[in-house]
Formats: sequence, C-alpha cells, structure tokens
Amino acid sequence: MIRNAWYVAGFSQEFAAGTICGQVIAGRPLVVWRTRAGEAVALDARCAHKRFPLWEGRLLDGDVLECAYHGFAYDPAGRCVAIPALHEQGEKIPQTARQRTFPVTEQDGVVWLWPGDSPPAGAPPRTPEIGSGDWETISTEPMEIAANARLLIENLFDLTHFYPLHAGNIGSLADARVPVEIERGERDGIPYLKTIRRRHSFTLPPMTRDRFGLEVADQVQEHAMVGPGLFHVVVRVAPPGRLGSGEEQGFVLYQSITPRDESHHVWRRSTSCKAGTGWAGSPGRSLVEAIVAGAPTVIEQDRWAIEEQQKMFAYPDEGYREVHIRTDGAVVMARRILDDMEAAEGLAGPSQVQSQRARRAADGA
Ligand code: FES
Ligand SMILES: [Fe+2]
Repeated sequence: MIRNAWYVAGFSQEFAAGTICGQVIAGRPLVVWRTRAGEAVALDARCAHKRFPLWEGRLLDGDVLECAYHGFAYDPAGRCVAIPALHEQGEKIPQTARQRTFPVTEQDGVVWLWPGDSPPAGAPPRTPEIGSGDWETISTEPMEIAANARLLIENLFDLTHFYPLHAGNIGSLADARVPVEIERGERDGIPYLKTIRRRHSFTLPPMTRDRFGLEVADQVQEHAMVGPGLFHVVVRVAPPGRLGSGEEQGFVLYQSITPRDESHHVWRRSTSCKAGTGWAGSPGRSLVEAIVAGAPTVIEQDRWAIEEQQKMFAYPDEGYREVHIRTDGAVVMARRILDDMEAAEGLAGPSQVQSQRARRAADGA
C-alpha cells in the first residue's frame, strides 16, 4: 500500500460545511471537515487523549472539533484549544495535546489528501472537466470495494476482460483482441502509464452502439493511470474516417482509487461530456446521462470480478503462478511502477509485494 501519494478523499460536494467526514485512507484513520472559511482540513482521527475516534465528535462554531468522549477540542491546525475537565482544575493544556494534520488540496471539484509521511512531491493531478461549465459531469457516490486497490488498477488496465466479463454490454470478443499501445510519460510532474486502443470500422458492442447511435465506427480509447490514485479515461467515437470532425462523440471518465487497507478501497467515478451534447437514442436526454445510466451493470461486473479475486489471496501462493499474455503488458508495467513506489517507502521489496499481500490476507489482517 502506497502512502506517499495524493488520493481522492471525495468530490467537493461530499464535504458540506458543518459536517464531519471520517474515513480511513491508506491505513490512516482521518477526520476531514470544511472550515467556516470553506477550507477542507484533515486530522488524525485518533484523539490524542484516549484514541477515541474524532469522527464521533461535533463541530463547535464550525471550526473546532470536540471529541465525544471527554471533550478535548481541536482547531483546524490540530491544536487542542479546550479540555473541559482540565479547566475546572485551573491547569494548562498540555503541549502534547495535538492532532497530526495531513495535507489537503481542493482543485477542479475534487478534495485530495496526502496520507504519507514524506511531504507532497507536488500538486495532485488535474481533473479540469469536473466542475467546468463547458462540460456536463455526473459523479457517482463512493463505492466501498472489498479488494486491494491494485486489483481495480489492474482491472482498469486489463482490457482482455471485455470478453467474457462485459460481453453483451460494453464488450465483445473482437473488443478483447484490439491491439494495445502503451505510453509512459509525465503529466503535471506526475508519472503516468497509458494504454491506447484504436478500432477502425469496428462493429460496436451493444451498449456502446446504443450510447452513440452507431453500428460501425472508428473508436479511440485511452486509459491512463496518473499516480496510484487516479485513472483518466478518454473515449472518442465517430463514423468511419470521421474522428476529429464535428461528428465525433465521446466522454471523459475519471476513476479514483483510494485504498482503505490491504483488502479494501473506495472507487469513485466522474463522467463528463461536452455541455449540450444530446443522446442519439432520445432527444431531450443528454449523452452523459445515457452513458451513466448504463454504467451500474458494468461496474457490478467489475466489482464482482475483483472481490472474487481478492478472496483467492487468502490461500498460500505455494504451487501457484500467474500467466501473462501480450495484452497484460500494461498490467505488468503498472505493477512495476507501484512496486517501486512501495519499495521507495521501505514498505516492501518489489518481488515481495504479491506474497506479502497474500500472507496478510491469509492472516486476516
Ligand atoms: S478520548 Fe477524546 S477527549 Fe478523551
Ligand atoms: Fe471492466
């Protein structure tokens, strides 16, 4: 599990003023709230007094968080500003009554949190379409997934599963065989790994056909991992030979992956289409609505796959070895990138990660 990374704590609308949001990110229990000035802040959720979870507390005047057990109260900088029992005895607040704070950055409609011990290396990735008036965006509620975060990352890079897992909706056998180009680079100072699939005069799978109103089309699909916490998907579709013209349609999809612990993560999705783009299947309905309406079926298939995979990590690795084919190339490269990030934190050597994960799952940790 990588801690020195930006992870999505939520979309901006998940943090209403005056409400406390408790969550675990990369094994750290955190309490996040928005101050009266509108700034999102995060503290260690374990009260410095007796470890009681601060997410059970309440906000006083919007800016001071009072623990529900004995009433220690903390300001947004984590300083203890009141201890009810202590004040009755005329004593001072101990200097050590302090909550650790964690860096939070809100940009492009997303609240990002850095749970690591090293200071942030730079700003979080940009998601300019979310919250832009030029785009119509629909963001899902956070989904709790009972699987290691890497299994979702691998699923999003693993395009061979379009058959059979998604056959009949967004996939087909021909789709699973589309050649995959791989690109590595840097965006806003953050390394990314991208797969690109190009289809020419391609018979679209049923759900894609209905979304775009085309039987046969050219389609370019990009999936990019931007750090361990974000996937940026861009889909462009047009009648054969018409990509880049006014007949092109498409969408941008951001998928965030926020690890809770070794066997749980939170998956969020935010889909955007150019504002004013109608749906070919029904005048008056927007394309982004049509795309999001069909997504739950596909999401549940992916959830089922990775949660079933996770269960198999409960068994020891002895005598078991994974087999990879050419289209697994991006998955293998992503594993190396993530292994290197984990190794840099001293959490595990690259070759030990899989077996450690399996052992931890087997231990019920
Ligand atoms: S545990 Fe929070 S005030 Fe005692
Ligand atoms: Fe999938």
